[in-house]
Amino acid sequence: MNTPICDFLESYATASPVRMHMPGHKGIAERDSHDLTEIVGADCLFVADGIIGESEKNLSSIYGADSFYSAEGSSLSIKTALYLLTLYAREKGRKPLILSARNAHRAFISSAILIDFDVEWLGWGSDYLSSSLTAEALEARLASGECPVAVYITSPDYLGGMVDIGAIAEVCHRHGTLLMVDNAHGAYLKFLSPSCHPIDLGADISVDSAHKTLPALTGAGYLHLNKSIDGFFKERVKDAMALFASTSPSYLILESMDRLNPYLAGTFSRDLQSIVCKIADIKQKLTDFGFTLVRGESMKITIKTKSYGYTGEELSNELQKSNIYVEFFDSDYLTLMPSTATMDEELDRLTSALFSIERRPVISAAVPAFAIPERVMSPRAASMTPSVLLPIDKCVGRVLSETSVFCPPAVPIIVSGERIGEDLIPVLAYYGISALRVLKDET
Ligand SMILES: Cc1ncc(COP(=O)(O)O)c(C=O)c1O
Repeated sequence: MNTPICDFLESYATASPVRMHMPGHKGIAERDSHDLTEIVGADCLFVADGIIGESEKNLSSIYGADSFYSAEGSSLSIKTALYLLTLYAREKGRKPLILSARNAHRAFISSAILIDFDVEWLGWGSDYLSSSLTAEALEARLASGECPVAVYITSPDYLGGMVDIGAIAEVCHRHGTLLMVDNAHGAYLKFLSPSCHPIDLGADISVDSAHKTLPALTGAGYLHLNKSIDGFFKERVKDAMALFASTSPSYLILESMDRLNPYLAGTFSRDLQSIVCKIADIKQKLTDFGFTLVRGESMKITIKTKSYGYTGEELSNELQKSNIYVEFFDSDYLTLMPSTATMDEELDRLTSALFSIERRPVISAAVPAFAIPERVMSPRAASMTPSVLLPIDKCVGRVLSETSVFCPPAVPIIVSGERIGEDLIPVLAYYGISALRVLKDET
């Protein structure tokens, strides 16, 4: 019998590729003998009164929060936190309404389907992956409408864009609303000087994918509770996570987070500062050379590829010729994610490869304009209703049953329960979506 996964991983690893994509450990870890289960002495992630609890205390002291491990990434932490917020709202006799910037990852939509809280969207930024939410806009909404239990924002986003969390947290708290941040792309923000981590900027809850930007295994994630949040959250967090998680959390993942703590508490900030400077230097050189970059966080390099004459996919193909693999591309963008584990020689290979790509005439085709679709029913109601898969041109006026995303970035353009307007069809075609699952009873 063949072993296609092993074969692919082995051949990829031995080709010495430049890994400009997640995870942050860049392929250094390998420890099968440590793959255990919850044997005597190994503690249990959802009890954590032994070695895991001890390690989580170390993490808490590093982040200055009540911090917990997830062995299933931010996806699990997002479900856990949204469940806790829903429960908290009910305990307080409030409606479980969450106001979310629209560039939410699919884990947020899955949570809405599983938990059935109410969602109100706060709008997009310049495209579906970004948010232009400002404290002023949030102030206007909170002053005039129903008070949500929490505001949910995604920052940094997949392109590296960030919103002003400090100002948004201040507005939330003035209106008696909690702030939860999907900080999947920002675990490293704690170690900048000064810290730009959401918890330090006033967020009540932050979920971080350790694996995306720190040297940890894929699946390694954190859930941080601000020490000022109601004790309800800390008391219920383990049971809440157990509700959505596998009963077999990977010890390799837990081990990789535990091994990381002394590094985070020690020299990581220094290494981060060093790579941040190198990336800033590369960004300047790329800009001087003629590439247009998205402004944003310090650890991502995102190129607006069409102004250099390529789609994101075409530029990615060019880089692959030099054995360089990117984190993300679509028609308009290409995102590179170096980390503290990226070597100088790899950064040099990256810049040489980009400089060797011939500039072409600007591509003017842009994503067609579209608005947030009309909501007809909740994501849960829509996803629990019988459905049928139809080509997109037969979907106008129909209600979406199953949120369809391409991953990465796994950010939906249209969400379950929304009506598919005519304006959306060219957008779906632009992003290569050819069919959608819509409610059946409308046929
Ligand atoms: C913005 C955002 N949130 C959440 C997630 C889910 O994170 P994880 O893969 O750690 O479960 C991702 C994954 O790419 C993401 O990009």
